[in-house]
Formats: sequence, C-alpha cells, structure tokens
Amino acid sequence: MHAALLHSHNLLRWVVLVLGALALVRAYQGVSGDRPYAAARRVGVFFVASLHLQLLLGLALFLVSPMIKLAMTDMRATMSDAATRFFVAEHPTLMVAAVVLMTIGGIVAKNAANDAAKHRKALVFIAITMLMLLFGIPWQRALLPGMG
Ligand code: HEM
Repeated sequence: MHAALLHSHNLLRWVVLVLGALALVRAYQGVSGDRPYAAARRVGVFFVASLHLQLLLGLALFLVSPMIKLAMTDMRATMSDAATRFFVAEHPTLMVAAVVLMTIGGIVAKNAANDAAKHRKALVFIAITMLMLLFGIPWQRALLPGMG
C-alpha cells in the first residue's frame, strides 16, 4: 500500500509539473498575444485536477507512511532533524498552500473582466504555484519510482 502510493505520488509529480509548465506557456502567450482564454483554461483545469489528485495521494501517504509514523512518536527529535521535519511539516504545508493558491487562482482568473485580464491573473497564480512546487518537491529523493 505504502509503496504503491509513494510510486504514484512520485510519478504524478511529473504530470503536475508538465501540465503546470504548459499552463504557464499558454497564459504567457495569452498575455503577449490576442488569444482567447478558453484553450488556455482547459490546460489550467487539468493542472488543477492533477494538483488535487496529488494532494489526495499526499494525504494518504501521510497517514500510511512508516517514516511519518515513526517521526510522530518523538516530535521534539523530529523537529530538530531537518530531513524528517521536511516531510512532516515543510513539504505538506508548502504543497497544501500551493494547491489552495492555484485553486483560488483558477477561480479569480475565470472571473476577471476580459480575456487579457484572465490570462494575466492566471499567469501570476501559475508562476507562484510552480515556484512553490519546485521549492517543496524533495529533489533529494528518487526522480522516478523505484530509482535509487
Ligand atoms: C501537490 C504537490 C505535491 C508534490 C508535487 C509532491 C511530491 C512528492 C515527491 C516527489 C515525493 C518523493 C516520492 C519518493 O520518494 O518516491 C513526495 C513524498 C512525500 N509526500 Fe508529497 N508532494 C505533494 C503534496 C503532498 C502533500 C499535500 C502531502 C501531505 C499532506 C505530501 C506528503 C508526502 C509524504 C508524507 C512523502 C514521503 C512519504 C514516505 O517517504 O513515506 N505530499 N512528495
């Protein structure tokens, strides 16, 4: 159970990042050109959906991970160890914040006055979300499931 969740969580990270990069490019093209928002929005919706799925996998992992279970038995030691603290506190907090931000961003962009404003707002929210994701991903871990 834990291995399946961890592998899915690992792989879905790439889906999230690719969709986020595509959404970023679409929003940028929308800001710099005269493109309708509808096509860019479709990519954005897939990006948000992948984030929601990753959030669910992350929450499930948090509940079943032997590493988290062990860390919870001695929170004082956990908080003074940077590597464990990252998975107990920093990673979940930053990632939940990124998902919430992008979910709100999608709604804010959709409700903006015209297509140019929608693209502009989407661009800002996607850029900030991508930065948070890039900072929050444990790059020290395997880049693909089963690697290392
Ligand atoms: C939404 C964006 C997220 C991304 C892109 C992401 C990405 C990752 C990656 C790449 C790993 C390493 C996987 C491996 O070692 O094979 C990981 C581990 C982990 N993530 Fe996330 N994560 C996200 C959200 C979350 C959330 C919201 C939570 C918890 C509430 C969470 C909890 C965990 C835990 C507990 C681990 C380590 C599990 C273990 O080693 O037993 N993640 N995450």
